[in-house]
Amino acid sequence: MNLTADLALDGRRLRTLTPDDAPLLVEATASETGSALWGPHPAGPYSLAQAQGALRDWDPVGERQVSYGVVDDGRLLAALGLMMDEEQGVELAYWVRPEHRRRGIALRAVRVLTEWAHRDVGVPRLWLEIDPDNVGSQRLASRAGYRLEKRLHRHCRSWVRDDPEDDVWHDCLIWDHIAPSSTGS
Ligand SMILES: CC(C)(COP(=O)(O)OP(=O)(O)OC[C@H]1O[C@@H](n2cnc3c(N)ncnc32)[C@H](O)[C@@H]1OP(=O)(O)O)[C@@H](O)C(=O)NCCC(=O)NCCS
Repeated sequence: MNLTADLALDGRRLRTLTPDDAPLLVEATASETGSALWGPHPAGPYSLAQAQGALRDWDPVGERQVSYGVVDDGRLLAALGLMMDEEQGVELAYWVRPEHRRRGIALRAVRVLTEWAHRDVGVPRLWLEIDPDNVGSQRLASRAGYRLEKRLHRHCRSWVRDDPEDDVWHDCLIWDHIAPSSTGS
């Protein structure tokens, strides 16, 4: 499965991120107060070392999880991730830098990456895990053509504690998108 992408997106690029892109993450997360795409920690801006570590964990060479950036004139506006799961297909995640939200960037990027994953990579099913409280993400998923599949009881971690046994687990919603050729339509 070749997960390297470099796609046109409204005059910007949607391309695979590599460890060399760490300075872009530092700049893009400067005003973030929550978690960004690459994991629950840090909640807030990334240091250069944290960005390098995150991008090593999201390494396109390993193809276990790969992140993609919406890059405009050398700045990272948003990031999307694909995570491989042998049983369920491929999970998609997304994040937009705070000062660029509500401009349609996530919607365009999710549509383009979803179409590319189905068509060029051959992924039959993409899915999202969304916190029921995250109304914006659910609206975005719906507008991007994903459908609500199910609600999983206490399936997702809140990451308020390091030990999974002591952590708070909450419900999450699974939304999915099936390749057109897989639906028989
Ligand atoms: C969720 C997120 C990715 C949306 O990115 P975005 O670029 O602002 O989204 P878009 O501008 O493409 O929004 C497309 C549509 O989604 C819906 N939407 C997006 N954000 C919304 C919000 N905060 N509240 C309500 N609806 C929202 C709207 O229908 C919107 O269309 P509209 O602006 O014409 O009404 C962004 O808010 C974000 O990064 N949040 C933090 C990380 C996160 O929650 N990731 C998802 C985890 S499941």
